[in-house]
Amino acid sequence: MKLTILGGGGFRVPLVYSALLADDDRLIDRLCLYDTDPVRLRVVESVLAQMQAAHPSPKPVKVEVTTDLPTALTGADFVFSAIRVGGLESRIADERRALALGVLGQETVGPGGIAYALRSIPVALEMARELNRRSPEAFVLNFTNPAGMITEAMRTELGHRVVGICDTPSGMFRRLATHFDVDDNRLNIDYVGLNHLGWLRHATVGQRDLVQELLQDDDGLAGFEEGQLFGVDWVRQLGTLPNEYLAYYYNNRDAVAAITRQQQTRGEYLAEQQDRFYRQVMQDPGQALARWQSARAEREDSYMREIRDGEGAGTEHGGGYEKVALDAMHAIARNERATMILNVANGSAIEALPSEAVVEVPCLVDAGGARPLAVRRPDPAQLGLMLQIKHVEQLTIQAATKRDSGLAWEALSLHPLVGSTTIAKSLAESLTS
Ligand code: G6P
Ligand code: MN
Repeated sequence: MKLTILGGGGFRVPLVYSALLADDDRLIDRLCLYDTDPVRLRVVESVLAQMQAAHPSPKPVKVEVTTDLPTALTGADFVFSAIRVGGLESRIADERRALALGVLGQETVGPGGIAYALRSIPVALEMARELNRRSPEAFVLNFTNPAGMITEAMRTELGHRVVGICDTPSGMFRRLATHFDVDDNRLNIDYVGLNHLGWLRHATVGQRDLVQELLQDDDGLAGFEEGQLFGVDWVRQLGTLPNEYLAYYYNNRDAVAAITRQQQTRGEYLAEQQDRFYRQVMQDPGQALARWQSARAEREDSYMREIRDGEGAGTEHGGGYEKVALDAMHAIARNERATMILNVANGSAIEALPSEAVVEVPCLVDAGGARPLAVRRPDPAQLGLMLQIKHVEQLTIQAATKRDSGLAWEALSLHPLVGSTTIAKSLAESLTS
C-alpha cells in the first residue's frame, strides 16, 4: 500500500518511517513524501536512507519525494496530513501578537489556535478536494494542528475518511501504565474531551483504577508530568488527570506571565533549533541520522519547559503518535477491530454537543473507519468548557471557509482565554487584513 505524507519534509517524519520499518506486516511498502520545500524534503530523505541502511530488510519501504501534490495523492491508500501553513515564522507571529496584547501566545490553545486554524483550513480543504479527485477511497489521518478544527473542517469534503490524531491522550495513559508497570493494552480507558482539552478520568485494570491510585500517591504524582505541570494539590483537588494543554486554562495568568518572561517563545526556540538541523544536514548529509537523533532529544526535553515547575522533566511526553497512526491504519486496512483515542465526529457520544462536532474520545476502529464509543457524561465544568470551545471552533471554521472577519472577531471574543472584544478586534484585524 502507498502512504503519502503531506508535510513530508517535517521533522517528525522519521518517527513514522521507523514505525513502518518496525512493522513486520509491511502494510505500507511505498512511502511518498510531499512538501512545498525541496530542501527540507532532501534532508528528511537522507535521514530515512540512513535509517533504512541501519535496518536492512528483504522487504524495504520504498521512499519517493515530490513537490507536486497531484503526483503525491495519486494511488494513495492512506494520507497523513502534517502541514504547517505559514511555517514557524507564522507560529512566532501568532505567539508574539497575542503576548503583546497580554493574552496567551501558544500554537494551538487560545487566540494562537484560532489564527493557525484560519490560515490552515483553506489549504487543508484544497488538499482534501485534490485527494477526492486523485484517490477518492483513501483515508486521511490528520495531525495538522489545531487537529480538532482541521479534522472537523476536512470532514465536509471527506466524511468518515478523515480521522484526527493527537499523541497526548495515549501518551498520558501509556506513562500511567509504565508508572505502575502494567501492560497498557490491558487498561480500560475513560477519557473525554476535545483535542488539547480533555480529561483521563479512569484507567482501570481488574478492580484497580490507576488514575485514582496515582492521585493518592504523593511522590508518584509529584514525579508525574501532570503533577509537575499542574501541581500535585490541584490534580488531586480535581480528582482526574487533565490533558497537559489544560495548564493554559487552569493556570492561564501564570502561563502568560511565564511565557512573557522567557527570552524566546516556543516558536522562536524551534525556529533556531530546526534551522540549525536542516542547515547542518545540508552541509554534511553523512551525519543526517545522528543529527536528527540529537535534535529530537533536545526538542522533547524542552517541551513545555516555559510553564513547567522546574527544569525539563526529561520524560518523553508523547505516546508516539506514529504508533497510534500505524495501529489505526492496520485496523482500517485489515478490518482488525481496535480501540483508540481519536478525533472523530461526536454522533451521540456526548449528548450536549452537536453530532458533527469533532471530539477526542475512545473509538472503535475497523474497515468502516472510527466510531466513538459511549462515554460517561462529562462533569459541569468539563462540559461547559467543551461547549464554549466547540462553539468557538465552529465559528472559526465558518470564518475560514467564508473568509468572514466578523466571524473571526466573534470567535476570538468568545474564547475564554481572550476575554475582551477589543483585544479580539485587534487580533482579528491583523489576521484578516
Ligand atoms: C504535542 C501535541 C502536538 C504538538 C506538539 C508540539 O505532541 O500533541 O499536537 O504538535 O506537542 O510540539 P512542539 O515541539 O512543536 O512544541
Ligand atoms: Mn496534539
